[in-house]
Amino acid sequence: MINLRIPATSANLGAGFDALGLALSYYNYVNMEESDGCHIRSLDGTEIPSDESNLIYHTAKTVYDICGKPFKGLTIEQTNNIPMARGLGSSSACIIAGLVGANKLMGEPLSLDETVDLSAQIEGHPDNTAPALLGGIVTAVFDGKSVHWVKQEVFTTLKFIAVIPDFELKTEKARACLPKEIAHSDAVYNLSRAALFSASLLTGKYENLRTAVHDRLHQPYRMELIPHARDIFDIAYTNGAYGAYISGAGPTLMTIVDSENKFFGGKMRFALDNMGLTGWEVKELHIDNQGTCECHGTCECHGTCEC
Ligand code: HSE
Repeated sequence: MINLRIPATSANLGAGFDALGLALSYYNYVNMEESDGCHIRSLDGTEIPSDESNLIYHTAKTVYDICGKPFKGLTIEQTNNIPMARGLGSSSACIIAGLVGANKLMGEPLSLDETVDLSAQIEGHPDNTAPALLGGIVTAVFDGKSVHWVKQEVFTTLKFIAVIPDFELKTEKARACLPKEIAHSDAVYNLSRAALFSASLLTGKYENLRTAVHDRLHQPYRMELIPHARDIFDIAYTNGAYGAYISGAGPTLMTIVDSENKFFGGKMRFALDNMGLTGWEVKELHIDNQGTCECHGTCECHGTCEC
């Protein structure tokens, strides 16, 4: 049995639409082995497809087919902590689990680069799939076939405090509201900020993050699909956040906060409750530099294992 731990991801990071993403300390766990037929079980009661349409199963089968290996079936056990359709990379986590699991079961015919490429070809965008696989912050360009990528480990005590709404937002809907064309000045606005984000995060110039997370490609449009988003950003900045942006396609709102800002999470919880948003979750996360790994359950990793 292969035992995998796959991190959640936060894509776009404000201005880096379809290009930047990072991995976070929030994990799905997937156990997988070859078997006769399709056997899928949820270990935590999360409702998942238990037939061949299951995204992990489907992805794994596709990888066997691509590699020309006979496929009889799989037994899969899933623990799904990453909430679905919330902008935290739950689909990418399934695709990476299917890909990495199948590759390991076949004796690793695919290289790391081939795995990065294939995951982007299946998902469509590399800014969730690449960090889910690699960890850290990943800068990625997908040319439709290959991903040109750099992973950088981030050594920071910054907290990423996710404000997770109690409703889903499908990526297709969140992309359908985007304009087909943008002005030249808006392109410059975004590319300068995307570059500023990585450089500032990696060098500790956190005071730049508030400027760096602004963009004109997606957030102004997606904001309309997420009630209270503007108010929540205002509250986050009032309470000292370095930056606040829509995570991936949304609806999760991500805030970047200094580790010394001890009561930030509590203040956000208090504000949400006062707004009547008692079903929204506030979750404190950190950057995961490891990416997808084998976790044998022999440790008490709580998100930090290297077993
Ligand atoms: N960059 C993608 C988007 C992330 O914002 O639509 C979701 O795959």
